[in-house]
Amino acid sequence: MSNATFSHDEVRLELPLAEATQGNNGYDITRLLATTGDTTLDVGFANTASCRSAITFIDGDAGILRYRGYPIEQLAETSTFLEVSYLVLNGELPTPAQLDEFSKGIAKYHLIDERMREMFRSMPRKSHPMPVLSAGLNALSTFAESKYGAGAYDPDRATHLLLGAMPTLAAYGYKNSVGQPFLYADESLSYIENFLRMSFGLPTGPYPFDDAFTRALDVLLILHADHEQNCSTSTVRMVGSSGANIYVSVAAGVNALSGPLHGGANQAVLEMLKGIREEGGDVTSYVNKVKDKKDTTKLMGFGHRIYKNYDPRAAIIKKHADEILRNLNGNDELLDLAVQLEDAALSDPYFQERKLYPNVDFYTGLIYQAMGFPQNMFTVLFALGRLPGWLAHWREQANDPATKIGRPRQVYVGEVERDYVPIQQRG
Ligand code: CMC
Repeated sequence: MSNATFSHDEVRLELPLAEATQGNNGYDITRLLATTGDTTLDVGFANTASCRSAITFIDGDAGILRYRGYPIEQLAETSTFLEVSYLVLNGELPTPAQLDEFSKGIAKYHLIDERMREMFRSMPRKSHPMPVLSAGLNALSTFAESKYGAGAYDPDRATHLLLGAMPTLAAYGYKNSVGQPFLYADESLSYIENFLRMSFGLPTGPYPFDDAFTRALDVLLILHADHEQNCSTSTVRMVGSSGANIYVSVAAGVNALSGPLHGGANQAVLEMLKGIREEGGDVTSYVNKVKDKKDTTKLMGFGHRIYKNYDPRAAIIKKHADEILRNLNGNDELLDLAVQLEDAALSDPYFQERKLYPNVDFYTGLIYQAMGFPQNMFTVLFALGRLPGWLAHWREQANDPATKIGRPRQVYVGEVERDYVPIQQRG
């Protein structure tokens, strides 16, 4: 591989090759603007690498996803969410002693300031839990600083604190929406058990754990732990690049994730499936509607900027969905509809030509629903899973000497200079 040369009129510019260990290399255009006076136009950053990163590798054509080199299939089969979080954050799998220390370091932060509970209580019952979670994370920043001073921003403390507080914030958003009392975490329980108990338990009695249920959520969080420079992670990096702290950067990531083209798609998929069922279950006419360019409807849970093949996360979830739904007494009728919809889309030339396949969000909502989560909590579960990735990227960027504030250019297409006209002379 060698450098590339840009040439236009008299200008010739060498573009150094930034070599990847695997996957797409990058041509470094740092000197383009200064040399040519012109910039590049790449709407949606579809061709632009914003950084060098060593966390996650995706081969979208082959449907490959690896965290720190480890295939997602192996991690989903044998690992746990906290072990994967350690891996994503630190680059290596932990020893038993390291995992124990990491887990204990996180567990002590499940307990949040009492006044934060009041804050959650004051949120409207019908609030969507994503902005509530984001508000909670912004508030956490102020509570952490008032308790620990500058120590709140020690990267290790902030990492433990955020990983510890997140399940509590997520569960409290849910508890407020259903008008139930907030529960304190129980340090004898695992990360996932604590979250489930804080979400579904009541102070009036013990919470009946179901191992299949707990493991299913563990696997789903593993599958969401990182996905390189997606919209929310790029947002976390962008906000962090201004020097903003890690808590508010993560809050911004939650906001980015909430959109239906990103994490909000898991909620949108279930709404879509229920809508199709209400209309009589005709998947063919829904597929036709989606293909109609005059209609803005999309097949939610389908398509991906990077994957031009089956999303490996969707493949794992689909494999388990049937079994998990049976165990959890889930809605098989909606699963059948989802499978029919997938079959209809995958055999249709519109989807084949555009290489549109099911993504991670296509089947997750069915499982979350079977677990008892309301639809508007689905994206919160995505956020819970994505947190280690956001933290790892924020930290990687903070430690990268090449980091600069994120500040894209534009190609201006507005008015050229003109003189102000006093209001009396207008009309
Ligand atoms: N249904 C129907 N047509 C689609 C879909 C879809 N879900 N996705 C893409 N297309 C079409 C699109 O209209 C375009 O057609 P044409 O070439 O005729 O203009 C073509 O496929 C290429 O799509 P694009 O919009 O240029 O692709 P993108 O990379 O900009 O967008 C996406 C990727 C995920 C936003 C998009 O596929 C989409 O909106 N999917 C539905 C929402 C969804 O499931 N989002 C979750 C993504 S995975 C998890 C996550 O990141 O959070």
